[in-house]
Amino acid sequence: MKSWDVIVCGAGIIGVSVALELHRSGASVLLIDSSEPGREATHAAAGMLSARDPETPQELRKIAFASERMYPEFIQSLQEHSDAKIDYRPGTLLIRDSRHVTHTSQQLGCPALDPADVERREPALSLAGRSAFLLPDASVDPRELMHALVAAARLKGIHIAHGSAVRKLEVENGRIAGVHTERTHYLTATAINCAGAWAGEISPLPLPIKPVKGHMLDVIAPPDLLRNTIRAPEVYIVPRTGGRILIGATVEDAGFDKHIDPETIQRLYRSAMDLVPALSEARIHEVWTGLRPGTPDGLPIIGSTAVSGYFLATGHYRNGILLAPITAKIIGSSVRNESSAFDLDAFSPDRLAQ
Ligand code: GLY
Repeated sequence: MKSWDVIVCGAGIIGVSVALELHRSGASVLLIDSSEPGREATHAAAGMLSARDPETPQELRKIAFASERMYPEFIQSLQEHSDAKIDYRPGTLLIRDSRHVTHTSQQLGCPALDPADVERREPALSLAGRSAFLLPDASVDPRELMHALVAAARLKGIHIAHGSAVRKLEVENGRIAGVHTERTHYLTATAINCAGAWAGEISPLPLPIKPVKGHMLDVIAPPDLLRNTIRAPEVYIVPRTGGRILIGATVEDAGFDKHIDPETIQRLYRSAMDLVPALSEARIHEVWTGLRPGTPDGLPIIGSTAVSGYFLATGHYRNGILLAPITAKIIGSSVRNESSAFDLDAFSPDRLAQ
């Protein structure tokens, strides 16, 4: 039976980033996923790196900023290993009701833009009396990023087994001894659960992870219609190079249901058109739903568990793309038993022990 130093369960952006980090430390790594790498939440994500969003929990700020700082090099190193081009662009306009301008200004530590400045930066945006704040928060194309991550993983000899989900971890005397999928069994002393919304399906440790559904669509518009990501409370709009524009997203408690509701899609599209009227001329390209991994306190679960050799890296909820580089570093340090530069108590698996 084949044996691996590390088995990573779940080949989304978190799993593949973790696998690459552990491979860099010299480990032989197997990635396992029930479907093709990145086909779930990574494929569905808009890719906003929203470290400064007022909704980003306070406890997350330090690692969110650290991960944001890692992004340019993360992308650069991946582009060195493949001919993949990864769309990455800084700039977000946060839209808020003008009644909240003082509060938002205090939260963000910057003033609202002058309306003439907004008009100059984004001529297609209709503020309709609202205020806009300019943030450096970038966006990245998660599908292109995933493609490059998988290419890098394959190039380095990381094995990817897809088509069969991990069901159970084998534990002997309080230590990880192997991994059972629906079809087979692998030997390992180290397993990392990166299974996103499905992380709680892997026994033996119960995890309070809950899928949080999001509807999204993208449209094809003239290439330079928007330059920045536009984030309003009711909708966000993320432009990509070439004219694709993503519109998202709902936040729904619907279990593992991924059904697409056309009415919900139309509602999102109408909200986007209220902000950018020229989107009415665009053509809908694709509609989809995705499942974010939610936790009871809205914070990710990153670190070691009571089972020796078992680590968790899941529950990233709305920030999986942003937090991938730092999560890989944290898990790398944890597996190597090194101390971390961050206070990780807020993300500790122990806090959720059931
Ligand atoms: N990160 C965007 C969303 O969760 O909709």
